[in-house]
Amino acid sequence: MSATSDPVTERHFQYIAERTLQEDDLLRSLKREARAEGIPAIWISPEQASLMQILLRLVKAREVVEVGTLAGYSAISMARALPPEGRVRTIEISPHHADFARRWVARSDVAGRVDVHLGDGREVLRSFGTDTADAAFLDADKAGYPVYLTESLRIVRRGGLIMVDNAFAFGQLFDEHPTDREVGAVRTFNEVMAREPALQSIIVPIGDGLWVGVKP
Ligand code: DHB
Ligand code: MG
Repeated sequence: MSATSDPVTERHFQYIAERTLQEDDLLRSLKREARAEGIPAIWISPEQASLMQILLRLVKAREVVEVGTLAGYSAISMARALPPEGRVRTIEISPHHADFARRWVARSDVAGRVDVHLGDGREVLRSFGTDTADAAFLDADKAGYPVYLTESLRIVRRGGLIMVDNAFAFGQLFDEHPTDREVGAVRTFNEVMAREPALQSIIVPIGDGLWVGVKP
């Protein structure tokens, strides 16, 4: 392999991180409080947030659907890339996480631009109208991804964006004996995504692997 196509290394990612705007006080406080409340310390990196914001701006997104709110870090990040009338509809199955996210959205600069829907992604997505979103971000239980994708393909307009988190299965994609029970579901989903004719998509090796797809 030529030097110009060497695989990226930890050093490259460090280099990228050092050249990315870091999170602000609000998101830093959100992370600290989430830990204090016993919410799993799972959030996208500033680099991934920046890439997602750039993509949302490129498709001129106003309406975004998210599955898997958790603490609300990504919902707040995405809302910041929308115009004032833009909205993030984010779905969360845990009442505690949904309550936490609502509180932090309310005290954020994007208060009023994020609606937290408490419920199962399968059901809540079904209640969203066809062609009512410009983008979707899937980041919930991995076994649900194929269904969330099918629904997103209906909800997102042509030319819209579908992003899916954790294509690298928490760093265990190539492990023979993975410890995380969702690794198999990620592997299965990656094949579904790769073969989905209604999307042009690619895994971007940022964070834990981000599927980026556009609906032609
Ligand atoms: C886990 C889930 C995620 O969506 C993520 O980005 C990182 C970790 C998890 O379930 O461990
Ligand atoms: Mg994730």
